[in-house]
Amino acid sequence: MTDVAAALAGRRSCRAYRPEPIAVDLLDTVLAASLRGPSAGNTWALDLVVLDDEAAVAAYWDTSLPSGPRRDAFPWPGLLRAPVLVVPTIRIAAYTERYAEADKAATRLGESPDRWPVPYWWVDAGAAVMAMLLAASGLGLGSLLFGTFEREDALRERFGVPGDRRVVGTIALGWPDEAEHRRSASARRGRPELAEVVHRGCW
Ligand SMILES: Cc1cc2nc3c(=O)[nH]c(=O)nc-3n(C[C@H](O)[C@H](O)[C@H](O)COP(=O)(O)O)c2cc1C
Repeated sequence: MTDVAAALAGRRSCRAYRPEPIAVDLLDTVLAASLRGPSAGNTWALDLVVLDDEAAVAAYWDTSLPSGPRRDAFPWPGLLRAPVLVVPTIRIAAYTERYAEADKAATRLGESPDRWPVPYWWVDAGAAVMAMLLAASGLGLGSLLFGTFEREDALRERFGVPGDRRVVGTIALGWPDEAEHRRSASARRGRPELAEVVHRGCW
């Protein structure tokens, strides 16, 4: 495993994978990283659906991108070869329950999710996802966080995810197929310069 700076510098979205599986200990290292992010109120409301065999991965794609014209025209066929898909889910009620506890009750955030100016469940999920992406990068694995869009309900049903969970997205993991690597239109937009986003002292 490389250091954090190298893992950060090396991370990029990978949309083309070689079909080789990921060794169990490496996959466990990536999954364990999900518990190393910060969590508001130390709530911990993340569950990971881990699809790490061919049948489960095929079931995922049959649900989210069924065979037909959309699948045939899918611009990232190498993504369909990722040997592992991780579907992070969150339980919003865990946050209202936690913030109704004595040490947090004064915030009144326990009364309803609508009271939250920032929905911390998404913030925590993002931190957990980033920790997994970094861990993957540190191990030389490719990764991609992608959206599940209108397939959330279908995926929940297919994989038995309880109805009180929201699907955050899906993380593909595997060994990058460098020969087929290309950047998406989004990635080609590039990143802002640090000076554009840093407002020292005031905006
Ligand atoms: C919340 C979120 C959703 C994303 N959804 C998709 C997606 O549905 N499909 C996709 O190809 N990439 C998706 N991406 C990846 C971004 O396009 C990518 O991170 C961005 O272009 C920067 O490129 P990089 O990850 O290679 O640095 C998503 C990223 C995030 C953070």
